[in-house]
Amino acid sequence: MTIELRTLTRDNFREIVKLQVAPGQEHFVASNLYSVAEARVNPDWVPLGLYAGGQPVGFLMHGRDPDEGRDWVMRLMIAADHQRQGYGRAAMQAAIGEFRAAGHLGEVFISYEPENEVARRLYASLGFEETGEMVEGETVARLRLDGEERDR
Ligand SMILES: CC(C)(COP(=O)(O)OP(=O)(O)OC[C@H]1O[C@@H](n2cnc3c(N)ncnc32)[C@H](O)[C@@H]1OP(=O)(O)O)[C@@H](O)C(=O)NCCC(=O)NCCS
Repeated sequence: MTIELRTLTRDNFREIVKLQVAPGQEHFVASNLYSVAEARVNPDWVPLGLYAGGQPVGFLMHGRDPDEGRDWVMRLMIAADHQRQGYGRAAMQAAIGEFRAAGHLGEVFISYEPENEVARRLYASLGFEETGEMVEGETVARLRLDGEERDR
């Protein structure tokens, strides 16, 4: 499964912003338009278009929370028509690979609505462990990027 993480630019942001999740999933993730706006006011956040076979299929954003200093994957979505083809997993694996290669992050956090069973299972299978915290009504999970977890 090859997925490409592309920097959002003036040239590709329209095709990423128009990607939508399936009906009923809207409350699991902010719109890409909102996320791009957040990235504008949080210059350290990294909004990425997800591409498969050269086609836009989703969006991922990561970065450091300026208030608490932790690093998060704060957005992940795969457009409705492209779900269940392995892209969400591949995108997370690619992002985690980049964090490890960069070498300066010890851990990364993610959060999801308690009823988002698909997200919970996906992140757990990638090595994320729930911390017991809730942030803004969402369950928090952490992946250690160093030490023994490295080979998972
Ligand atoms: C969560 C999401 C990103 C997963 O992306 P995806 O490309 O569909 O996922 P993948 O194809 O990589 O599948 C990952 C696993 O989830 C399972 N899965 C995906 N969609 C599923 C569904 N609707 N129902 C049940 N299982 C599902 C797959 O079977 C796969 O399991 P496996 O690896 O054990 O075989 C996507 O469903 C999405 O964008 N959802 C709406 C937004 C959202 O919830 N984002 C996360 C917020 S924290």
